[in-house]
Amino acid sequence: MILVTGGTGLVGSHLLYDLARSGEKIRALRRRNSHVEQVRKVFSYYSVEAERLFAKIEWVEGELLDYQSVLDVMEGTDEVYHCAAFVSFNKRDRLEVLRNNIEGTANMVNAALEQKVRKLGFVSSIAALGRPLSGEDITEELIWRPSRHTSAYSESKFKSEMEVWRGIAEGLNAVIINPSVIFGPGMWNRGSGLFFKNIWKGLRYYTLGVNGYVDVRDVVLALTSLMKTEISGERFIVSSENLSVQDIFGMIARHLGKAPPSRYASQAMMSFVQKLDALKSALFFTAPALPKETLHSAHQQVRYSNHKIRQALGMEFIPMEKSVMETARQFMKDVQR
Ligand SMILES: NC(=O)c1ccc[n+]([C@@H]2O[C@H](COP(=O)([O-])OP(=O)(O)OC[C@H]3O[C@@H](n4cnc5c(N)ncnc54)[C@H](OP(=O)(O)O)[C@@H]3O)[C@@H](O)[C@H]2O)c1
Repeated sequence: MILVTGGTGLVGSHLLYDLARSGEKIRALRRRNSHVEQVRKVFSYYSVEAERLFAKIEWVEGELLDYQSVLDVMEGTDEVYHCAAFVSFNKRDRLEVLRNNIEGTANMVNAALEQKVRKLGFVSSIAALGRPLSGEDITEELIWRPSRHTSAYSESKFKSEMEVWRGIAEGLNAVIINPSVIFGPGMWNRGSGLFFKNIWKGLRYYTLGVNGYVDVRDVVLALTSLMKTEISGERFIVSSENLSVQDIFGMIARHLGKAPPSRYASQAMMSFVQKLDALKSALFFTAPALPKETLHSAHQQVRYSNHKIRQALGMEFIPMEKSVMETARQFMKDVQR
């Protein structure tokens, strides 16, 4: 039996699809208010047998922060994929992001040790990696350090990864992946899905920031492949290409049939907009659309090395051009429905 957390998310839903097709017995943790319909929708993108595959999943209600529910859902499972996390860059979510991700992962690790699971696969993030002093590519070796630009999300992913490393020191068989920005269809109101939505609506601005990008199917492939190996106590960057915001936005616009964003948003301009946005959010008690940390990362130029995972698995990544093309195609089908 395989357990998946975060099954209603972008990564988890694609992972569930992959596992359902392979014929494995699958259990997925869901919260009372989780939208499992999202998973059905993702399955339907890939197969006419979506319903049959979806029916293979045993959904169990639980909550990462409730240790007893984590312990119960893990009973009788051999393999655990821990994908769940609260992804938010909103300052108001700071404490919730830290608690949810760190304590939630500590509970997963403790339950996996107690239930003696065969192996745990943990989805960390590039946000849990360190930054090089000069411009070289970021590798798995770089140790995370806080800075004045560090988001609560980044801190939470580093500290949750530390919980997994602590578990490994206590005898847990576990492997960690650190994906870059993940592209894939289905979740258009969050993460990279918002890039598609905003460019579709006519976003005109770009920055010169550089980041790593990867297709969700490659994230699933890397994780499931690592789980099948003897590899343990190691982490792997999972990233296809390093691209500028201008390039990736241009690519999305082209595949959506829209004009590419053509106005450069300088740091000074974004800082001005961010202050207005912060004022608006304080006056009207709404979530800021442009948190300070997002502003910094939009201009940051960071490149990631995928050498280690390619060496370990002989993996060839889906080019981002193909990933963007297929995701854009699905986006257009969904908006035209
Ligand atoms: N998306 C990216 O670009 C990216 C990049 C690098 C790393 N990652 C990492 O990849 C993993 C998956 O990301 P994603 O994009 O798939 O996230 P997502 O779409 O936002 O989904 C998050 C999932 O976590 C679940 N969850 C959160 N808190 C929970 C709790 N306390 N108890 C039970 N379930 C909980 C959510 O359940 P509900 O449906 O109930 O909300 C949802 O299923 C995360 O660990 C994230 O940090 C993501």
